[in-house]
Amino acid sequence: MKFLLVYYTGTYNTRYLSNQISEKLALRGHAVDKVEINRETPIVSTEGYDYVGFSYPIYGFNTPLAFDKYVKKLKFTKGQKYFIYKNSGETLGMNNASSRGILRLMKRRKAVFAGEYHFVMPYNIHFKYDEDFVKEILIKDDKLAQIMIYNLENQKIERIKSKFIYNFSAFFVGIVKIAGNVNSFLYKVDKDKCVNCMKCVKDCPEKNIYVKKGKIKFHHHCDMCMRCSFFCPTNAIKIGFLDWWHWKVNGDYKLAKLASEGAPEKPYITKDSKGFYKCFHKTFTNIDEEYQRLFGDVETENNEKQAI
Ligand SMILES: Cc1cc2nc3c(=O)[nH]c(=O)nc-3n(C[C@H](O)[C@H](O)[C@H](O)COP(=O)(O)O)c2cc1C
Repeated sequence: MKFLLVYYTGTYNTRYLSNQISEKLALRGHAVDKVEINRETPIVSTEGYDYVGFSYPIYGFNTPLAFDKYVKKLKFTKGQKYFIYKNSGETLGMNNASSRGILRLMKRRKAVFAGEYHFVMPYNIHFKYDEDFVKEILIKDDKLAQIMIYNLENQKIERIKSKFIYNFSAFFVGIVKIAGNVNSFLYKVDKDKCVNCMKCVKDCPEKNIYVKKGKIKFHHHCDMCMRCSFFCPTNAIKIGFLDWWHWKVNGDYKLAKLASEGAPEKPYITKDSKGFYKCFHKTFTNIDEEYQRLFGDVETENNEKQAI
């Protein structure tokens, strides 16, 4: 089959996920094309694809604005199949509301829903996850990707239900979609730390950063994706109110390296996990159980080979 994966990414978690899924699909003999959305991405044709997969990082229980803008411009043929594989730092029920806009849009386009999946990825905002936690997340994501592909191949439709109260609340938190425009008036670069590497200018997906008279400046069409401050090698970028609240993560997680190291020595999330970590136990257990049901209890790598 022919797949088109359309995704937006800030700090490359969604890119990592899309690459993993693309590799697995290719292993299964499918043809895959990928489109990463940024301000200059041309609108692609969806014609000829059996499935179009949409992916985005959840921002304030919603889709990123740049994702919305791009997807609205895509043309669909009646009856075209699509699926969603979204990701976020945690699995709070409110996150379920994030896809309501795209589901509505696709319904209007008369596209056919083929399933929705929610992957956990490490936070790129708020606080940095421990390496062992990230390793565990990546193992669960690997399993979920296999479950998703199995379901798509077998026309099994997985739905994520959202409650009215989540949709209602997420609508108001949706202000985050334009918060970056205001917040970018507050962005500053610490002159003492900045080494003028221009990474932030070159890499901004929204082309929101520029240089004027040797100084780094910001326009006001920021999506708050965090790429600039997250990857800044000297942590020189102050991201307005997020910085005031210390809602900032600086430094690449090095996902490929962590994935290659396998499972942590002892499970990070257990039934005794407390507070913030509690919600992950149910999510991870559900993935493990479904994986076991579909593929049995053999190693991930073997499953992929077996499935082929
Ligand atoms: C502005 C902003 C808002 C976010 N809001 C949420 C949220 O509502 N729920 C959540 O679980 N994670 C949230 N996150 C975390 C991201 O969804 C998560 O880290 C994601 O994997 C980032 O993907 P990316 O690297 O492709 O940009 C937010 C991140 C940012 C930058």
